[in-house]
Amino acid sequence: LSTTEVDLSSIEPGQAITTSFRKQPLFVRNLTQKEIAEADAVPLSDLRDPETLEQRTKEGHKNWLITLGVCTHLGCVPLGAGEGENRGPYGGYFCPCHGSMYDTAARIRQGPAPKNLFVPDYKFTSDTSVLVG
Ligand code: FES
Repeated sequence: LSTTEVDLSSIEPGQAITTSFRKQPLFVRNLTQKEIAEADAVPLSDLRDPETLEQRTKEGHKNWLITLGVCTHLGCVPLGAGEGENRGPYGGYFCPCHGSMYDTAARIRQGPAPKNLFVPDYKFTSDTSVLVG
């Protein structure tokens, strides 16, 4: 199976980009300290698919949120990884198909999607580069 190398060096805090991994959209997001704090402030008991931001990121790189850009309801591409796109009320991603709303850890918070956006296997190959897959 193929891997994808992603260069993080030009992704500013607060910015998210869409690239692709095995023909699926891949969201790569550089979280701000505020977005990290917002994710950390959510009690796990409030979550449909309970996971901490730590569990969804790599140690020492908690600001880098890397997920598939595929809604876990019926597979639409959520908004929020492009310039000026609607990130929804939880500040993460918003799926326009049936209104699923994801938070700043890309965890499902409201709407029909059953699961958080999927975090693929990846590793940091340097401070500014990850290898996905
Ligand atoms: Fe995203 Fe239905 S596919 S809410």
